[in-house]
Amino acid sequence: MENKSAFVTGGAGFVGSHLTSKLLQRGKTVIVYDNFSTGKREFLPSKHERLEVVTADLLDIERLKKSLLELRPSTIYHLAAIHYVPYCNANPIETVMVNVAGTEAVLEACRNIEIEKFIFASSAAVYPIKDTLNFEDDPIFPCDIYGNTKYFGEHLVRTFHESTGVPCVVARLFNIYGPHETNPHVIPAILEQLQNGTEIQLGNLDPKRDYIYVDDVVDALIAIAENSSDSFEVFNVGTGEEYSVEELVDIVGKICELNIQIKQDEQRKRKSDRLHLVADISKIKNLIGWKPKFGIYKGLESLIKNEYSDLLNHQ
Ligand SMILES: NC(=O)c1ccc[n+]([C@@H]2O[C@H](COP(=O)([O-])OP(=O)(O)OC[C@H]3O[C@@H](n4cnc5c(N)ncnc54)[C@H](O)[C@@H]3O)[C@@H](O)[C@H]2O)c1
Repeated sequence: MENKSAFVTGGAGFVGSHLTSKLLQRGKTVIVYDNFSTGKREFLPSKHERLEVVTADLLDIERLKKSLLELRPSTIYHLAAIHYVPYCNANPIETVMVNVAGTEAVLEACRNIEIEKFIFASSAAVYPIKDTLNFEDDPIFPCDIYGNTKYFGEHLVRTFHESTGVPCVVARLFNIYGPHETNPHVIPAILEQLQNGTEIQLGNLDPKRDYIYVDDVVDALIAIAENSSDSFEVFNVGTGEEYSVEELVDIVGKICELNIQIKQDEQRKRKSDRLHLVADISKIKNLIGWKPKFGIYKGLESLIKNEYSDLLNHQ
């Protein structure tokens, strides 16, 4: 296998499968390394001469080393993680093992080969609770176990960069939506309930988030891999705009021409929830030349057309 290939951990998941498809479209050879805990084989092309799928766990360090030595990729996109916050809260030790020890395992395995760039999928969850824009050089203070594992992962990546000189990038991803979502986040929860009627049950309606369409995230990850410096860099990947759950429902109602009624469900309410989480994206715009192409209306419309088209055909 030629050297200019990409190794995508978590490549069968929501973001990873879109990234894999885009890299294949761009002529790259792609190795997906995934244990299929949330990822799905059907998200990937069934057969492709430039796609190799390794079904294995991050914590299987010998398998990781063997795969990397055999396949010698030039770019690593490390996306595999446990990511759904309620699951992380209920399973903190497993979350630390996969997100922290798993990240260290990938980095350790990378020490045996020559790579050109390492990209780590971190999260907006590393930021402290605040009501204004989040900048990459803000003080970091995660407020849950998931955010803590991502922050620890960022430190491991920086230490790897300092000890090896390999260019490394931390991408702090904000709230991603689009086709193939694997975890029961708010946007799929809205759209799935609408398939059974216009009355839907939701938890907290007020928290605002920076929702970014998955195609934009994939473009940002590839742009970062191709255009970032040879050093250690951190970039926010968001839109710079925030919307509440109520605003999302309103936009979905307009796209689908539905009069949606929201019932608040106490069971769905998170006990503590930040009210705002929004990215400042001037760094990635200025240094990488990337900016999002999808506004919230266009992104939701694209998701609905792709995966929930029955909601458009109700008249
Ligand atoms: N989706 C979002 O809104 C969002 C926001 C911020 C950050 N992120 C980060 O982006 C990355 C991708 O998230 P996603 O939404 O695609 O999640 P996902 O659950 O769809 O993808 C994770 C993938 O990793 C695989 N995986 C999990 N544990 C593994 C293990 N021990 N060994 C091997 N493979 C394993 C899963 O099978 C899955 O294919 C994650 O690191 C996540 O923390 C996602």
